[in-house]
Amino acid sequence: MLTGKRILLIVSGGIAAFKCHDLIRRLRERGAAVRCVMTEAAAKFVTPLSLQALSEDRVYADMFSLTDESEMGHIELSREADLLVVAPATADILAKMAAGLADDLASTVLLATDKTVLAAPAMNVRMWLHAATQANAATLRGRGVLFVGPNEGAMACNEYGPGRMAEPLEIVAAIESWFMGKLAAPDFHMALPQPPEAIILPHRPLLGRRALVTSGPTREAIDPVRYISNHSSGRQGHAIAAALATLGADVTLVAGPVSQADPVGVRVVRVDSADQMLEACQVALPVDVAVCAAAVADWKVARAVNAKLKKAPGAAPPVLELVPNPDILATLSAAGINRPRLVVGFAAETEDVVSNAVAKRTRKGCDWIVANDVSAGSGTFGGTDNTVHLVTAEGVEDWPKQSKDAVAARLAVRIAQHLVA
Ligand code: PMT
Repeated sequence: MLTGKRILLIVSGGIAAFKCHDLIRRLRERGAAVRCVMTEAAAKFVTPLSLQALSEDRVYADMFSLTDESEMGHIELSREADLLVVAPATADILAKMAAGLADDLASTVLLATDKTVLAAPAMNVRMWLHAATQANAATLRGRGVLFVGPNEGAMACNEYGPGRMAEPLEIVAAIESWFMGKLAAPDFHMALPQPPEAIILPHRPLLGRRALVTSGPTREAIDPVRYISNHSSGRQGHAIAAALATLGADVTLVAGPVSQADPVGVRVVRVDSADQMLEACQVALPVDVAVCAAAVADWKVARAVNAKLKKAPGAAPPVLELVPNPDILATLSAAGINRPRLVVGFAAETEDVVSNAVAKRTRKGCDWIVANDVSAGSGTFGGTDNTVHLVTAEGVEDWPKQSKDAVAARLAVRIAQHLVA
């Protein structure tokens, strides 16, 4: 896809600079030639040697280097490239680009270029949301600079919002789209339509709080070798348990049969059936918050047998009588004195996702419900990404498509806000 393409990668000084290693690797394995320019601040985060080793090319940093100028003038650097990529693009370099400053090699190359520039912003959420940065980004967009990201997520200092640099593969996808002619300035800005507010929380806001999370499918035995189940992988539920633990909560994760690794710092109770899941949840009470992300089988076989059902020649197949499983979410929501202060359910829907979820919140008696589309082709079951709607008594929030980890981080922050308030 990128064979023979020449990328000039400008690395400015932010913690996200470490992702450049992966970015260079991904570009190189697609056949692109990558040449790096780094700012003085970038060298505090990554070394010229590492960029040189990965790009297999010289790394340029000094505007007044006689050797560099004699071999490759700074104007030549951009002339030789097909595309300039600024990753990470800090608030500082965006401001310089918008103002037309040229006080180091990176900003000089950016001012001197007539090539397309793709910027991957990365900075503190408040810096990104600051009117100055938003104005700079708007100015640059107006001049044809392309943007990928920033993504929304939990950041250092317990802040949450847009500001994380796009992942290397997202940047690669943007670069490939540009080379395919699919990427034009006005239609490509992956930040949320309206930046959400920065959320500032105390350090480890859930310290001293207890959380219960269910995750994965349940298995309802038919006989010792067969069962009824579903496609849940446990990715979403496990990510939520991990995110709550990161915020300091004491988390019990009741997990159906999945192959996900146990999240670090989380107590994991493994179960098979819905009955076992309910019992494990009740043992975990009292908790401050319960999040039911498990895909619990609605029905079980009325009479599971202890011996394998035999297929007798000529005999009719067995008829399975199903009976309802206990509803764990509804039970926790009606747990009286032991009711968690906040009960969060999920709604897995294949049609009318939001309206069904709104009705489900009332029917099950939970406080919030996270609705997701599990129709064929959505990729929600087992996939890495999820598009969810948070349904509360106040209304419905549509969250953008994001990784299940990002959904979990955002949900955990919302839970912390609610419990800490
Ligand atoms: O595990 P992944 O591959 O990452 O996929 C994630 C997911 C799709 C499983 C997850 O995001 C999700 O939607 N989980 C809920 C699945 C589900 O059972 O939805 P439901 O609409 O059928 O149930 C509504 C709620 O009731 C859920 O919170 C469920 O946990 C709960 N429930 C359902 C039946 C039952 N007997 N007891 C319950 O507690």
